[in-house]
Amino acid sequence: MRDQFEREINYMRLSVTDRCNLRCRYCMPEDGVCKKPHEQMLNEDEMIAAVEAAASLGIEKLRITGGEPLVKRNIMSLCARAAHVPGIREVCMTTNGVLLPKLAKGLRAAGVRRVNISLDTLNPDKYAYITRMGTLDQALAGLDAALDAGFDKVKINAVLIGGFNDGEIEEMAKLTLTYPVDVRFIELMPMLDQPEFGERAFIPYTRVLETLPQAVPVRADGGVAKLYRLPGAKGNIGLISPVNAHFCAGCNRIRLTADGKLKPCLHSADEISLKGMTREAMRETMRQVIFEKPACHAELSASQRSQAGRNMNQIGG
Ligand code: GTP
Ligand code: 5AD
Ligand code: SF4
Repeated sequence: MRDQFEREINYMRLSVTDRCNLRCRYCMPEDGVCKKPHEQMLNEDEMIAAVEAAASLGIEKLRITGGEPLVKRNIMSLCARAAHVPGIREVCMTTNGVLLPKLAKGLRAAGVRRVNISLDTLNPDKYAYITRMGTLDQALAGLDAALDAGFDKVKINAVLIGGFNDGEIEEMAKLTLTYPVDVRFIELMPMLDQPEFGERAFIPYTRVLETLPQAVPVRADGGVAKLYRLPGAKGNIGLISPVNAHFCAGCNRIRLTADGKLKPCLHSADEISLKGMTREAMRETMRQVIFEKPACHAELSASQRSQAGRNMNQIGG
């Protein structure tokens, strides 16, 4: 359906858990999440009811996010059920990839069509640093498993961080020469709980183009990334610029958190609880929330942090 600004809202991001097997420094605190009582979280049936309600209002694309969606015990059943909801044309997932060697084939069989994998660096020490507890080998094994499993598309997400991976832009972009993947560079979004990332950590998306003068623009795929391609490459370079060139005017998405809060905008504190509602009540609430989706979020900068009121692991990006 369309919102009050005539934007077609057809994409829902469903965060299935706020837990994660990593602790990326820009995303969540070292000591993990403060565990909410089980009964405050949406159960599988409620998540599927919400997907059905959303689909009945015109949501066609569902992206399963986290935390890390693959740490959720019932993830296969959730994906399979979601893929069968009438109106849902595509179930996709964003994951850190660590558990893909075990789960990629099953996910594909469950109907997940596309996978985006978070990978911020190709340096093993830096990977261990930024994730606080991961190893690069695990993430690369996850990428291999995703490529083997036959997904329609595999993308890599790299958050640009000054003084950390800004010297690796070319090396990471060149993954598109070797593998049939898109490599997307994402501007770091200033969330509340990021003591380590001040002004100098922010790298504008234009830095990628300065580093890769040989990249030529190609047509966008309907997502938020501006797309480019290196000569002879098998995949695209994507630039996601939520800070310096936000894409609110063309925003097509809503978010649902694992504790049942519908978020009309990533960077707004507005959230409406669906927990405990019937499918019909969910539908009516969603209709209203979609219609009233705000035009835009406030400017973001190191001094004007996101008003989301949650860390990224509790929203799902
Ligand atoms: P595709 O379906 O492949 O286009 O994926 P996607 O880019 O929609 O999803 P993904 O989970 O891979 O997100 C990539 C990056 O874009 C993450 O850093 C997200 O936080 C960010 N992102 C996704 N949607 C939005 C949005 O509506 N607003 C902002 N500011 N950032 C977003
Ligand atoms: N800024 C930009 N991207 C972020 N992600 C998590 N936190 C941030 C942030 N503060 C990314 C992850 C993942 C996606 C869901 O969001 O790297 O790829
Ligand atoms: Fe986990 Fe992804 Fe957040 Fe890293 S960015 S801590 S992998 S949810």
